[in-house]
Parts: sequence; C-alpha cells; structure tokens
Amino acid sequence: MDQPLIFCGSSHPELGEEICRFLNVPNGKISLSRFPDGEVAVEILENVHGRNVYVVQTLAGDPNNYLIELLIIMDALKRASAKKIVPIVPYFAYSRQDRKDRCGEPITARLVADLLSAAGADQLITLDLHAAQIEGFFNIPVTHIHCQELLAAASKQYLEQPAIIVGPDIGSIKIAEKFARALSLEMAVIEKQRKSSSLVDMRLIGNVKDRNVLIVDDMCSTGHTMIRAALLCQKEGAREINCAFTHPIFSAQAVEEMSAAPIKHLIFANTIPTNDRALGFKNGHCISVAGLIAQSIER
Ligand code: R5P
Repeated sequence: MDQPLIFCGSSHPELGEEICRFLNVPNGKISLSRFPDGEVAVEILENVHGRNVYVVQTLAGDPNNYLIELLIIMDALKRASAKKIVPIVPYFAYSRQDRKDRCGEPITARLVADLLSAAGADQLITLDLHAAQIEGFFNIPVTHIHCQELLAAASKQYLEQPAIIVGPDIGSIKIAEKFARALSLEMAVIEKQRKSSSLVDMRLIGNVKDRNVLIVDDMCSTGHTMIRAALLCQKEGAREINCAFTHPIFSAQAVEEMSAAPIKHLIFANTIPTNDRALGFKNGHCISVAGLIAQSIER
C-alpha cells in the first residue's frame, strides 16, 4: 500500500506532526506564507502525483484564514495530480449554523461542506461534529470520529464515586449517553426554557445531590454553558464538579471565567491548540486525538 502523505496547514502543526509520528511517515513539505497584500501563498514542495494526501487543518483560532488556507492547499494538491485528497478537520467551524431558525439566516455548515468539495476533497475526516446530520451535507464519504470513549476513560481518574454525568442542555443528550455508557453511570440533563429575550429558566432533570458531577458537551467556547450548568449543579447539592468536552475553543475570557466557577477539572481533546489559554486553568487536562486520527487513516 502507498504510504499516505500528510501535510499540515498552519492552524495546528503539533497535531499534524503527532499523527505523522503515529504513522511513522514524514510530514509533507509545503511552503505557507502571505503575499504582500495579505493573500495566502501556498507551494507544495513534494511530488504528490498519484498519491493519497491528507491535510491537517483545524478551523478555530482564526477560522476564516485557516479555511481559506485549507481550500488553497487542496487546490494546489489537485492541480499537482494527487490521487485522493482528504482534509482532516479536527474542529469543523461554522457547524453551529446547521439550519435556518429565522428567515435571513445562512446555513454555514452546508456552505463550508460545499467549499471543501469544490476545492477537491474526496473524503473528510473530522471529529465530533456539532450535529451528526452535517455529514449529510457532503456527497463525499465522511469519517466522523467520536471522542467520548477516549475522554470518558481520561475523566475516570478525576471522578470519584458516587458520580453522575450531566448534559448541560437537551442538545447534549446523545453525548451524555455515550459518557454514561462508557463509565457505567447514570445521567441527568438540564432543560432550558426561554422566558424572555434575557431570561432563561434552567431545570435539572435528574438527581445530582451528594454526587460528583461530570458535565459533558461537544465544545466549550465562552464557557458560559458549562458555568451555568456547574452553578445549577452546585445549587442542587452536587459535590465536586468537572467538565469534559471535545473542542476547547476557549474564546473571550472562557478560561478565566471557568477558573472562577465551581469547576475542578477540565478534560478536553487537542482538536484545537490550547497552549497558554489552557494553562490558565490549573486543572486542565488535554487528551490527544492523534492516535484516533492515525487509526482512521490506516483503515
Ligand atoms: C451548543 O449547542 C453547543 O453544544 C455548546 O453547548 C455551546 O456551543 C457552548 O458554547 P459556550 O461555551 O459559548 O456556552
């Protein structure tokens, strides 16, 4: 079998290099820079003719620039006659707009799917899409990797019994079920009811009293969802509260605000580089998904 050729965009080279180490293949040589006017300049410095090529590019931190860079890298690979082009997008940006709630709104998840296909993607590898139905926006195969078992195994050591899994909103039920199954625990979920534009009523369905809690979700952006859930669990008599999620977006003051909340441990994947931001949280535990991605490439 041909060795896969793996290129890294500029969003998360550490993860790309780790995947290469897992597969024992060298990192594909590529030049990424900017033209004087700010446009992205790409040059593939390998012979990719007839090869299966993978491009690792996560779409967080500076999602607009990273998306354009990914599209341009794929275009360069296509024009250099790569046989199969597979973007590996650990965090798929714009996924939260996956339907129209009101007239005048876009469906950005579909737009990004179309852009990847137009740039030449033959397959997509991604992790924990915000909604599984986004797979249906593609007419190419999508390898959708789920991280809940990995994160559950990593969370176990921080979760003393008696413990319970909590989904912070109804949308997180499926994720909570996966954690609960992996850890053989009961689960609870928080239901939100919007009373007015500024008032949201939260109700916990389940019993967290005198239990240690693991709040689980697909992503943490501002951290407000986790913080509100942690405060409600605290009010309902929970003991220690921890959070586990796949994508550490950590926008705005997320790390600072979560540090001030009743949250002990944060367990998250390295789908997005966290560097200094995660270090701001004293019990942050970053779990690598490089092995999961490498396995799916091997398969
Ligand atoms: C929402 O549907 C998502 O699953 C997350 O709960 C949400 O995006 C987290 O955002 P934030 O951290 O800003 O509350």
